[in-house]
Amino acid sequence: MTQQFTDRQGRAVVLEEITEGNWRDVADVAPTDEQRRYVAALAARYLLLSERGEVWTSLGVRAGDDIVGHVMWAYDDEEGTHWIGGMVVSAAEQGKGVGRATMGAVIERLSDLPECRQIRLSYHPDNTSAGSLYTSFGFRPTGDLEDEEIVMALPVS
Ligand SMILES: CC(C)(COP(=O)(O)OP(=O)(O)OC[C@H]1O[C@@H](n2cnc3c(N)ncnc32)[C@H](O)[C@@H]1OP(=O)(O)O)[C@@H](O)C(=O)NCCC(=O)NCCS
Repeated sequence: MTQQFTDRQGRAVVLEEITEGNWRDVADVAPTDEQRRYVAALAARYLLLSERGEVWTSLGVRAGDDIVGHVMWAYDDEEGTHWIGGMVVSAAEQGKGVGRATMGAVIERLSDLPECRQIRLSYHPDNTSAGSLYTSFGFRPTGDLEDEEIVMALPVS
């Protein structure tokens, strides 16, 4: 059964495919200026990455009536692992539980795929907010680094 994910204000947090109706709002999702050292300045960069390649699939994050974030996923068929990337909550929407609800929803979505055995992601070692969020979902370091980022993995049973 699909779980309901909510933020701390009680807004339903759902992942949306990118559509004609939402892509502009998703493209405008932006972190704080300081966080630009960890992620792209605008989610538009990730949307283009998803559009131009055949690797990543972007999703919009809706909380209640508003688009408040972006996340994307990919399948690495050489390693047989799924990846989460491009996780950004709009600066004004951070600290309200949207990131936690988004992680829950994207992990559930990937875990439901029959071939999903392990989910990976990476984060910059200085990005302690992201690191503690991922650790709280059970992600643990693999020992690998990718572009100076710590790679973490979550087994899926
Ligand atoms: C990381 C990010 C996605 C978290 O989203 P969020 O909506 O602010 O997070 P939440 O309010 O759901 O908090 C979830 C957890 O994140 C961590 N966290 C969030 N803000 C934090 C802060 N200011 N300081 C420390 N930890 C923090 C905590 O572990 C928190 O746990 P809690 O639910 O027990 O409070 C968001 O800060 C963001 O978009 N950052 C910029 C982009 C980025 O760094 N993405 C990750 C790339 S790997």
